[in-house]
Amino acid sequence: MTDDDPGTTADDAETAGDSAESGTAVRGDRFSGGPARAFLSSLAADDAIFAADLAVDRAHVVMLAEQGIVDDAVAGEILAALESVEAAGHGALPDGEDVHEAIETAVIDRVGPDGGRMHTARSRNDEVATCIRYRLREDLLAVAEATLTLREALLEVAEAHAETVMPGYTHLQPAQPTTVGHYLLSYEGGIARDTERLLGAYDRTNRSPLGGAAFAGTPFDVDRERTADLLGFDGLVRNSMDAASARDFLAEAATACATLSTTLSGLAEDLILFSNKGFLELSDDYSSTSSIMPQKKNPDTLELTRGVAGDAIGEATGTLSLLKGLPRAYNRDLQRAHASVFAVADDVREAAEVAAGAVATADWAEGTLASAAGDGFSTATGVADLLAAGGMPFRTAHEIVAAAAEGIGDADDPATAAAKVDEAAREITGEPLSAHVSREDVEAALDPTESVASRDSAGGPAPDAVAEALAASGVELDDDAEELATRRDALAAATERLETEVATYV
Ligand code: ARG
Repeated sequence: MTDDDPGTTADDAETAGDSAESGTAVRGDRFSGGPARAFLSSLAADDAIFAADLAVDRAHVVMLAEQGIVDDAVAGEILAALESVEAAGHGALPDGEDVHEAIETAVIDRVGPDGGRMHTARSRNDEVATCIRYRLREDLLAVAEATLTLREALLEVAEAHAETVMPGYTHLQPAQPTTVGHYLLSYEGGIARDTERLLGAYDRTNRSPLGGAAFAGTPFDVDRERTADLLGFDGLVRNSMDAASARDFLAEAATACATLSTTLSGLAEDLILFSNKGFLELSDDYSSTSSIMPQKKNPDTLELTRGVAGDAIGEATGTLSLLKGLPRAYNRDLQRAHASVFAVADDVREAAEVAAGAVATADWAEGTLASAAGDGFSTATGVADLLAAGGMPFRTAHEIVAAAAEGIGDADDPATAAAKVDEAAREITGEPLSAHVSREDVEAALDPTESVASRDSAGGPAPDAVAEALAASGVELDDDAEELATRRDALAAATERLETEVATYV
């Protein structure tokens, strides 16, 4: 039996007080034991929603008092008991099937039977759904914040290397020269969409199911808007059956994390390959070494970043598989859905932060990148574009350059390569290149830096286009940071509102 095993221990029996002998406050001596007890209990994993449950209890009790459903004096006693339960911590909770039951038992232990009024007009079904959303929204904001940190790092390095020429690849074969700035902006664009997805998932998570009760509402005159407001929710999950049952917000959070970590794994893979080619050196802070080969500097942090994607994809698949085909309304399967989403969100957040650090501190080997930028006749497309711009059909230009490519090696200087293109042109069209373009322009097109500078279409790698993209991305990043801060502020304000209300009773 481990420390966090929910089964009975001497300590549990002590803290549970009288209720330990008679099961819990909720079940008395029915359903209180048996061999499946540990299997049924989520108490250990519920550590993640201990703070959430206390907040939900407080908001509910304040609302019950305001609606005249419980006396102010009883509300005060319950709220005081909740403070003492909070101070004692999750580990001090009495035994129970879950944190909701254990906190209720602890409240009744402190207040007496009136403590049992706390659970008026609600069920553990709307209660747990509210707790999960309350907790998950913090996780989503933390992951979203990590995406902002990473975007900031990508933009900074992209700006510093807006003119650092490097080889660009398709199929992992040299394709066209680009710049480090343009390359990094490609990931910034992807991560910006991840920020959007996470904030969208947040907005759909941040709705209150509280007051839905077991699934079928309650005869008590509850004020659902009030509890939603005290807990910082932007609105309600209106239908009470939807409120108790829905976990699509969990699936959405898991897939948003999985999508982000898939983008991160691509970035990690690239940087691992680039460090293998000597294009980049990771800082020691983001590397590890071998226990036997003293010369080794390994990109372990990036490998782990790549690895987290496996867990995140597994989590998204697992969540959807658990939810698939579940009938309305509440089923206990749901107890297994959320804790692992919280854990994966944490891993993905950390992976994004580590990726940000690795990007911000890596050293790009400008010389090596420049000399590799033209490898594999990667400027060929630019030469074909030049011929087409000079009036030749693009398909003919493509044919000429393809024919020349066979004879052009990495060692050829621009003059030699241009001569080979000229030869191919004569063979294929019967005309010299000079009929269409100057030799000078052909040589320029063969130069990786010139090649990059010529591709100045919107979003392209030319320094001007990169500068424009950097400016636009910077504005979007600031906007997203504001969106995040607005949500954080709203949550902090709600926490204050709830504290202020509670203080009027205690
Ligand atoms: N621990 C449970 C969960 O996480 C709480 C809800 C229990 N509801 C019930 N009807 N058994 O889902």
